[in-house]
Amino acid sequence: MAEFTNLVKILKAAGEVTRLRLLALLGAGELSVKDLTDILGQSQPRVSRHLKLLSEAGLVTRHAEGAWVFYRLADRGETRELLAALMAQFDDEDEVIVADRNALAKIQAANQQQADAYFSKVAPSWDDLRKLHVAESAVEAAILRMVGNEKIGRLLDFGTGTGRMLELLKDNYDFGVGIDSSAEMIAVARAKMSAGKIPHAQIKLGDILAIEPDEPDADLIILHQVLHFFADPGRILIEAGQKLVTGGRVLVVDFAPHNLEFLREHNAHQRLGISEDIMQAWASVAGLRLEKFESYANDNQADGLVVCLWLFTKNQERT
Ligand SMILES: C[S@@+](CC[C@H](N)C(=O)[O-])C[C@H]1O[C@@H](n2cnc3c(N)ncnc32)[C@H](O)[C@@H]1O
Repeated sequence: MAEFTNLVKILKAAGEVTRLRLLALLGAGELSVKDLTDILGQSQPRVSRHLKLLSEAGLVTRHAEGAWVFYRLADRGETRELLAALMAQFDDEDEVIVADRNALAKIQAANQQQADAYFSKVAPSWDDLRKLHVAESAVEAAILRMVGNEKIGRLLDFGTGTGRMLELLKDNYDFGVGIDSSAEMIAVARAKMSAGKIPHAQIKLGDILAIEPDEPDADLIILHQVLHFFADPGRILIEAGQKLVTGGRVLVVDFAPHNLEFLREHNAHQRLGISEDIMQAWASVAGLRLEKFESYANDNQADGLVVCLWLFTKNQERT
């Protein structure tokens, strides 16, 4: 519930044509100032001024990434309920809403094309690596089984890449955040969230070794094929442990120890798989207790990699 003078400020911020259009557009998910500017056909400083007012009223939140700034509807705080009520008032057949949504769809298609072009460039090396895995569908089925049916409030996907985990688990969480340090990967992930109509997932450019302090603690953290890119994966587990609520879980999916040395040179792997013992040691330093472990071998490939799933629970704060 908002305090009286704040309520006036919030209603004044929302009560203007361009700003109401901005709120309606952001109802579809996170958008950059660049895209919003293109859709509204107004100058960037003008659009930014409107967004600043919405942000000051607590109606939207801002997330800067280099030269680009992203906005999304506030998902916490006193304006949350008010925004939900406002979104319910928008008429899907209203000509302003329809025109803005059509313009948004055009921009999304252009963004998707750009992402596809990037993907077609990297596709050859990805496919080589995929052939070494167990069938993706078997591992994904195991992930869904391990995570279970219990509703997850907040999910953090560390090293989200193209956002596949956020897509796979979209019905399991209330709000998902994918973090990745590669601008190309997150462009693809954003396009995927948009195309898949997953507005309750947010993609952020960031370093999983230095998670923003204001990132709220999660109920589940996923580390899917990420740890072997680090010389010291234990640091990532510590970081993950610190970003979990007590009782929260970490799901690690990674390779069992292997000797495919060429993966270091050609695919930037630092670790050639992770043994159960070493993982256990890192986890206990991070204050995580092993709940479940499963492994999947690739039956179709003699030198195929074994994929392991570890599910941990945080039962205490690290001392
Ligand atoms: C093999 S991909 C896995 C992507 C995704 N988890 C999946 O399984 O589809 C590893 C990802 O980790 C990301 N990454 C590497 N170092 C990172 C860091 N320090 N912070 C955030 N992401 C990082 C890479 O950009 C890449 O997208």
